[in-house]
Amino acid sequence: MISGRLKLLRVVTLVFVASTSVYAEWVDPTVLDACPGYKVENARSEGAKLTADLLLAGTGCNVFGTDVAKLALEVTYETDARIHLKITDPSTQRYEVPESVLPRPKASDQVNPKSATIHFNYTTSPFSFTISRTRTSEVLFSTGSHPLIFEPQYLRLKTDLPEEANIYGLGEHTDPFRLSPYNTTRTLWSRDAYGVPSGTNLYGNHPVYFEHRTTGTHGVLLLSSNGMDIKINNTESAGAMTLEYNVIGGVLDFYFLAGSETDPNEVARQYAEIVGTPAEVPYWSFGLHQCRFGYNNYVDVADVITNYSAAGIPLETMWTDIDYMDRRRIFTTDPTYFPIPKMREIIDYLHDHDQHFVLMTDPAVPYLPNEGYGPYDRGTTDGIFMKMPNGSQALGLVWPGVTVFPDWFNPKTQEYWTNEFEMFYSPETGLDIDGAWIDMNEPSSFCVYPCIDPFAQAITQGLPPNRTTPAPPPDVPILGGWTDPNMHKRSTGDTGFDIDNPPYNIENAAGALGSLTANVTSVHENGLVMYDTHNLYGTMMSVATRNAMLARRPGQRTLVITRSTFAGAGAHVGKWLGDNFATWDQYTESISGILSMATVYQVPMVGADICGYAQNTTEELCARWAMLGAFYPFMRDHNDDTSIPQEFYRWPVVAQAAKNALEIRYRFLDYIYTAFHQAHLDGTPVLRPLWFNYPQDPVTFGISLQYFFGSSLLVSPVTAENSTSTTLYLPKGRFYDLATLMPIDSPGGNVSLSNVSFTEIPLHIRGGVVLPLRASGAMTTTELRKKPFEIVVAPSASGEASGQLYVDDGVSISPSETTEVTMTFKNGRFDTKGKYGYRTGVNIQSILFLGVGIKPESVQVQVAGKMMSMAESPFVHDASSQTLNVTVGQLLAGDISVVIQS
Ligand SMILES: *[C@@H]1O[C@H](CO)[C@@H](O)[C@H](O)[C@H]1NC(C)=O
Ligand SMILES: *[C@@H]1O[C@H](CO)[C@@H](O)[C@H](O)[C@H]1NC(C)=O
Ligand SMILES: *[C@@H]1O[C@H](CO)[C@@H](O)[C@H](O)[C@H]1NC(C)=O
Ligand SMILES: *[C@@H]1O[C@H](CO)[C@@H](O)[C@H](O)[C@H]1NC(C)=O
Ligand SMILES: *[C@@H]1O[C@H](CO)[C@@H](O)[C@H](O)[C@H]1NC(C)=O
Ligand SMILES: *[C@@H]1O[C@H](CO)[C@@H](O)[C@H](O)[C@H]1NC(C)=O
Ligand SMILES: *[C@@H]1O[C@H](CO)[C@@H](O)[C@H](O)[C@H]1NC(C)=O
Ligand SMILES: *[C@@H]1O[C@H](CO)[C@@H](O)[C@H](O)[C@H]1NC(C)=O
Repeated sequence: MISGRLKLLRVVTLVFVASTSVYAEWVDPTVLDACPGYKVENARSEGAKLTADLLLAGTGCNVFGTDVAKLALEVTYETDARIHLKITDPSTQRYEVPESVLPRPKASDQVNPKSATIHFNYTTSPFSFTISRTRTSEVLFSTGSHPLIFEPQYLRLKTDLPEEANIYGLGEHTDPFRLSPYNTTRTLWSRDAYGVPSGTNLYGNHPVYFEHRTTGTHGVLLLSSNGMDIKINNTESAGAMTLEYNVIGGVLDFYFLAGSETDPNEVARQYAEIVGTPAEVPYWSFGLHQCRFGYNNYVDVADVITNYSAAGIPLETMWTDIDYMDRRRIFTTDPTYFPIPKMREIIDYLHDHDQHFVLMTDPAVPYLPNEGYGPYDRGTTDGIFMKMPNGSQALGLVWPGVTVFPDWFNPKTQEYWTNEFEMFYSPETGLDIDGAWIDMNEPSSFCVYPCIDPFAQAITQGLPPNRTTPAPPPDVPILGGWTDPNMHKRSTGDTGFDIDNPPYNIENAAGALGSLTANVTSVHENGLVMYDTHNLYGTMMSVATRNAMLARRPGQRTLVITRSTFAGAGAHVGKWLGDNFATWDQYTESISGILSMATVYQVPMVGADICGYAQNTTEELCARWAMLGAFYPFMRDHNDDTSIPQEFYRWPVVAQAAKNALEIRYRFLDYIYTAFHQAHLDGTPVLRPLWFNYPQDPVTFGISLQYFFGSSLLVSPVTAENSTSTTLYLPKGRFYDLATLMPIDSPGGNVSLSNVSFTEIPLHIRGGVVLPLRASGAMTTTELRKKPFEIVVAPSASGEASGQLYVDDGVSISPSETTEVTMTFKNGRFDTKGKYGYRTGVNIQSILFLGVGIKPESVQVQVAGKMMSMAESPFVHDASSQTLNVTVGQLLAGDISVVIQS
């Protein structure tokens, strides 16, 4: 004990000397493990709930503050598959993530702990606990010999892990999808993380992990928004792996999810029960989005729209970054560079051509007292900006210069935000956006720590910058002379806390907690302090922005894309992966990024900046990335103002690559839309790592360069520069090469492909699925919805397949009519069964059966119980591709069957 404390003190002294150190005080693990822990008293079980007191079991070790003497433990079996465990300090009101931000799931009334699939057990003295699978007694989580530490600004809880544990989650990060179990620290503290460096804390925070074993997959959520380091390492004792939470506030609020012994999708669904299932997005939002920072004026914006059209590349949505603003002030446009009438003309043009428009809105409101700037004046009158402890407005420094930050906890802030959106984004007089893009909401501040004089720093940093390009003439004809806008149709009060410099320093890559963000001592209207709520800011802005957008078009879904997220954000908004670099590494790392968001965190509307945000892309990288990006759920090309332009039409190879991949993406659009609908219903992920589909195959556990788009389209991009070959893993089973449609029976192993040109991406269909494809792509999603369906039946080796199709109007939050079809194939018989409430007005043109080696004797098509003649439904067998193409030519409005006789 004593010597341990001495060791610790020495290190702390060192850290104080090196006062700019951004790293946590390193503590010899033996010091922490020598803490006394707690002992259990007054344990009481009542039905599905156990409560107990935890008393400090000896002299406190007081590592980062005084150990709390008495804690309260509460364990509840909330469902058969979920245990909720909370450890709090009953003597004081400590911060917890407010229900208003993340409503807690309800517990079932009737859970019998004996029949639950996971089980809580504990030892009394010292207190430790395990969570295990009831059926097999396999231990999933065990605090073992690691004492619990609970101090005002330091909480530690640590679990043993199996050797070579497969841990996924604990983001946002650009580390490998499967986290290394050696020497890994995951820091959770929202940060404007330019270049998204690996091994650091990034924009958002998801304190959840899934752990996968061949015996099952389970999940653990620590519901905390406080700053924390989670450490995974193998050095405690010989070979033993551990995961350790080091948290600087709040309480220990854990959810343990049983997942399943066989299907990894279950743990994702169980997590969605806590954080909410993803919001549905409009059909159009799956189209191609184009953006950049550095469109200098309205002419630039209009030209990009024209050029996409001329190049024959489908552009669904045009975006504009902060360039449009007057001196970078939100809710303004530059009167000369982006005049409102010209911007309205562009938006009207887009809407008239079934295209869409999105603009960026930042949270920071420029601090402009007495200058007649409405957004500041109205917010000040309403008192809705973050305040310092002395009641003055908390100031930061962002693009427009000195700023204030909306306090999303203030009950008046939603109304303020909705009103600002209503005015600025007015369809009648303003910019009628179709979606919202929210950035800088960590919240980011450029004010260098300590932010004593933001006004002086605004001058040294040159904020806001002046424009460096000449103004466009006010009357340049744009959009090919198109001029008919009229055609437009449509806390806690904890005292004694050192908030600015807590004793345990998390490994925030920005340095001190308050560095380059809003001051962490600033307070919300309800008394909560930014120290506790910092990690929630982006998600709270997301919710307020979505509500503001829904108020503009009641009853209609919207698209809001945010940079910062917290657990639960996906129930409201989508996310782009932030300011990446145009490098091959970041191109491949984006796969882990989208998988983590879509599969683990329930934020499926996700994509990285295609071709890279910062630094100059190359033709080859951009071509490869355009094709990978076609299999991101959210597909957007975006880059910064110092890099070369990278719209897909800039190079012939990139244009061709984009066209090829977009044709496939659009043909698969109803398939992915159906997957999103399913995700919205129950949390089934829209993207899957390989191990989700092959949970028994250990080779798949570490794969992060391939994934499934939806349940069954395997995406295996070429990942190396100057290469036209790639090696991909095909698990054991039946696949079909999408390019040739030929079946492949994989024994489970690597496959090498060569001659993969810069305009091709390897794609395989997993056997066993029925895909509702459109017969062709289109220039807009509106046009796409008029294309007939071509159903593709890709049977497993045993000759079976199934799939789903969901269609609605593509925009209503609660569509009055829907079409929901289940498609099955078995014993040579294909059937659709469903309800056809939403009239698509399009045909099922044909059904293409894959893997049909021998021409069948006969094929019979039945529509609504009536047999069709051969003349009405001819079939073509192609021996070389082993396909059978059956013409149907019937409205997608009733059940059909196809019987194949060999
Ligand atoms: C719970 O743990 C105790 C030892 O701490 C052990 O004796 C007991 O068998 C365990 N119960 C179950 C159901 O695992
Ligand atoms: C992991 O353990 C090694 C050896 O004790 C140590 O050097 C390293 O700092 C540890 N890493 C973390 C993240 O705790
Ligand atoms: C652990 O990781 C840190 C940070 O990346 C590194 O500096 C250190 O050398 C690593 N230690 C070991 C033992 O691998
Ligand atoms: C935040 O405000 C406190 C006063 O409440 C001040 O001491 C501290 O330096 C400020 N921090 C930053 C990052 O500006
Ligand atoms: C912008 O230009 C004005 C007028 O020339 C000047 O006063 C101001 O300092 C300039 N701002 C920056 C950031 O350069
Ligand atoms: C990108 O290319 C432009 C134009 O060639 C050049 O001015 C700029 O320095 C390049 N940027 C980087 C980061 O290489
Ligand atoms: C790819 O080729 C280019 C042009 O020859 C060269 O500059 C670059 O270094 C090559 N990259 C790799 C990874 O070989
Ligand atoms: C299948 O037949 C339809 C006509 O019924 C045709 O339009 C379609 O291109 C064919 N598909 C293939 C893959 O040959």
